[in-house]
Amino acid sequence: MKLFLSSVFLSISMGVAAQSTLITNDNVALQQPANHAYNEIAIIPEPVTVTKQEGHFVLPQSILIQAVKSNELKQSITFLQERLGIPTGYFISATAAASNTANIRLVLTDKNDAAIGAEGYHLQVTPQQIVITANKPAGIFYGVQTLIQLLPKEIESKEEVKDVKWQIPCVNITDYPRLGWRGLMFDVARHFFTKDEVKQYIDAMVRYKYNILHLHLTDDEGWRIEIKGYPKLTEVGAWNVKRVGSFGNFIPPKPDEPRNYGGFYTQEDLKELVAYAKERFVNILPEVDVPGHSLAAVASYPELSCTPDAVNYKVRSGERIMDWSRGAPPLAMVDNTLCPANEKVYEFLDTVISQVAQIFPFEYIHMGGDEAPHNFWEKTPQIMELMKRENLKTMPQVQSYFERRLEKIVAKHGKRFMAWDEVLEGGVSQSTAVMSWRDMKYGVEAAKNKHEVVMSPTQYAYLDYMQADEITEPKVYKGLRLSKTYQFDPVPEGVDPKYIKGAQGNLWTEQVYNIRQAEYMTWPRGFAIAESVWSPKEKKNWKNFFARTEQHFERLNAAETKYAPSVYDPIFAVKRTADGRLLVTLTTEVEDLDIYYSFDNSFPDHFYPKYTEPLVVPIDANALKVITYRGKKPIGRMMHMPIDELNKRAPLKK
Ligand code: ACM
Repeated sequence: MKLFLSSVFLSISMGVAAQSTLITNDNVALQQPANHAYNEIAIIPEPVTVTKQEGHFVLPQSILIQAVKSNELKQSITFLQERLGIPTGYFISATAAASNTANIRLVLTDKNDAAIGAEGYHLQVTPQQIVITANKPAGIFYGVQTLIQLLPKEIESKEEVKDVKWQIPCVNITDYPRLGWRGLMFDVARHFFTKDEVKQYIDAMVRYKYNILHLHLTDDEGWRIEIKGYPKLTEVGAWNVKRVGSFGNFIPPKPDEPRNYGGFYTQEDLKELVAYAKERFVNILPEVDVPGHSLAAVASYPELSCTPDAVNYKVRSGERIMDWSRGAPPLAMVDNTLCPANEKVYEFLDTVISQVAQIFPFEYIHMGGDEAPHNFWEKTPQIMELMKRENLKTMPQVQSYFERRLEKIVAKHGKRFMAWDEVLEGGVSQSTAVMSWRDMKYGVEAAKNKHEVVMSPTQYAYLDYMQADEITEPKVYKGLRLSKTYQFDPVPEGVDPKYIKGAQGNLWTEQVYNIRQAEYMTWPRGFAIAESVWSPKEKKNWKNFFARTEQHFERLNAAETKYAPSVYDPIFAVKRTADGRLLVTLTTEVEDLDIYYSFDNSFPDHFYPKYTEPLVVPIDANALKVITYRGKKPIGRMMHMPIDELNKRAPLKK
């Protein structure tokens, strides 16, 4: 997400939670907790089939894991040893030998079980034993994730927890994913996140059976990968001036302000991250975003630009560099592009791609292609010559020329070329894999044209958007509530599913200054996306999902992973009565909440008026305060809505 539209757009998409439009399916009411009672089986993403049996498996103090093909299963064994061993304090051993006394058996099939594919598993828990069966090690690992979710929440603790009854309900589960590409994108360019923070992010995503981490490694605000032969990319390109507040409108740094905010990963760091992810069955998709979003590279090597003034450019620190007033594509105020008419650019990219290809074993490299402004190109004689020489008529065709050359470089280094959906505009080769972001329709169009597609549309999957009203959330120009994310169907009607590789959520970090906030933005919407990519479509059910989500909030508490409680905040809708008074309607995404309110500036609780019908704002009131309760328990945040803000949202007609 990089669009910066004016604040007129701020409230457009906040009122999205119409319960009536959500999917309901009584077939899966099976696991619905009554009255928010704790349910022992609350798995996210929802498995394909779950059959509860009588009884429990109680963890003994000494646990033996048996895996005959232990070499192939060492990730799952190590994972189990750590995840079971630390919180319980129990002794966990493993053997490759046949054993009658094993408590947990990890079994790779000798004969392929077609029903579960490469990532599926069967999990059987009886009072005597736990058995996970799969065709491939990945399936065993996902079975292990489900097993962990069947244990009490304290299993998520990083320390030993005493006095917990460590038991697992007896159950038979068969499970496999709906889609093969189940990703999260983490923008480490806008703000830099350390190697350990990226590992922490990976740890959280593997709980929910994600298998792709897309790292957005370069942008106007930072170049984060060491490239041998181009040292200034990280000496200059990785650093800017620290600012906090509303990114996009910061005061431009003074020439002498220290540029010491940022960082980068050495190639060794990245290899370590790749290995860490791989042990957890996660592939890392690297993204080098060109030709736009390249100010950090241009500030490091101005000769890569078409614009002579680039010698004066600096890595962006969040000041305004684009004019979005006429929509997309933006008008650039500084030329943040690499020059498609400059052979040095292709030499540079050849070096970058060859090294990226060496570091990341994943078969795709993402080369960006989004939001490239063309207004500087329009004024560049070199571009005019290129257009004449190559018979290019439009600026999107100039960009296509660049993309096609880039695809050849990517292919030369043994990789597949992926890019954001704008690259379709000027025409690209059919082998380009398209990541659809601006709208589902671009992904649909790309699939119709037989491109491989990964869906990550703003409407459902943009994790940088606000999760509730801007009066409580860090301000971004749009909102995306959990219930809307849960409606995400990556394979819409009318599309040939064979072209939809999968989907992902995208966490852009312009407004995300630290890892706690990155977690807050990712969860719980990351649960909803996980369920959209893993679970059978017909099993999706908002009420059931939300009941499980609430239990997973508890698990994330135990894991010390942050999440947003925004789903409990009411949705404000405001209009004018016939006589010009403000009329406020409050709704909630969650069904069983009561809303209490005040107009007298004091803090409402459950002894205050309960919201039952639209509120006419009293004449001299200056704030509406609201809070949600479940029974006698406060559950939402105290929200303070200035009446001036309501006036802005429903201006009085003159
Ligand atoms: C994007 O959000 N510009 C891909």
